[in-house]
Amino acid sequence: MHWSVWPCLSAFLLRGVVAANERVIQDPDTKLSFFSTYQPYKLENNKGITFRFAVPDAASSTGFDTVVQMVIPNEVGWAGLGWGGGMAQNPLLVVFRNSNNQGVLASSRWANGHVTPNTYTGATYTVYKAGTKINSTHWQVTAKCTGCTSWTSSGKKTVINPKGNNRFGWAYSLKKPTNPNSATSAIPIHDLGQYFEIDVGKGVNKDFTTLVGKLQ
Ligand code: HEM
Ligand SMILES: *[C@@H]1O[C@H](CO)[C@@H](O)[C@H](O)[C@H]1NC(C)=O
Repeated sequence: MHWSVWPCLSAFLLRGVVAANERVIQDPDTKLSFFSTYQPYKLENNKGITFRFAVPDAASSTGFDTVVQMVIPNEVGWAGLGWGGGMAQNPLLVVFRNSNNQGVLASSRWANGHVTPNTYTGATYTVYKAGTKINSTHWQVTAKCTGCTSWTSSGKKTVINPKGNNRFGWAYSLKKPTNPNSATSAIPIHDLGQYFEIDVGKGVNKDFTTLVGKLQ
């Protein structure tokens, strides 16, 4: 019987960890303010992925640019973010290191269901050197997205709320993409697909356009 209790207990513990790890950070590399959430995937050894969001002050209800930053353990082959709260019918971001583990690629994808996503041209990512780095334990990527906060699916337009909670989906795989030097590479299925809720408005930047304009 004990084995049926464990999954509930660990799900509960994981959620507790999540709530305790939401905070605003001032990023020294980009000078942007981010609202940050830590999403654990293993309780042992504190393994988890940090997702950070920076948004403009004038973020509008018709869609706005964002800068997203992710901090990812080196054991992870690819990590992903679903902008509309899950896997299907919303813009997907997939990030991975190149073959020599010295650079990070961001790939825009879309899936209509629980099937391998295709390339999605409705969103564009710009990976910045500032805030993108790799050390002995983690890799970190910082990218602007244009087109991630609004999209149309089955004739219905969705826009992310710039001030209030939104649900995001996220996923990770320990395996790398087949050709990690290409943003359109085939990717293996995730080891976990999960969700979090966050108020991206807490990552507000009055001088977003100026600061982002300086990034390379
Ligand atoms: C690479 C090929 C992929 C395949 C074949 C695939 C397949 C699936 C399947 C079968 C499920 C439902 C069963 C389960 O919970 O495991 C699922 C769930 C999920 N996937 Fe994927 N997936 C892929 C890529 C991605 C990517 C790139 C992302 C995010 C960027 C993603 C995000 C999620 C999320 C958040 C869930 C949770 C349930 C949901 O949102 O509906 N998946 N996936
Ligand atoms: C490695 O990089 C990550 C992500 O930038 C950072 O959080 C961590 O402190 C770094 N570790 C060391 C030992 O520098």
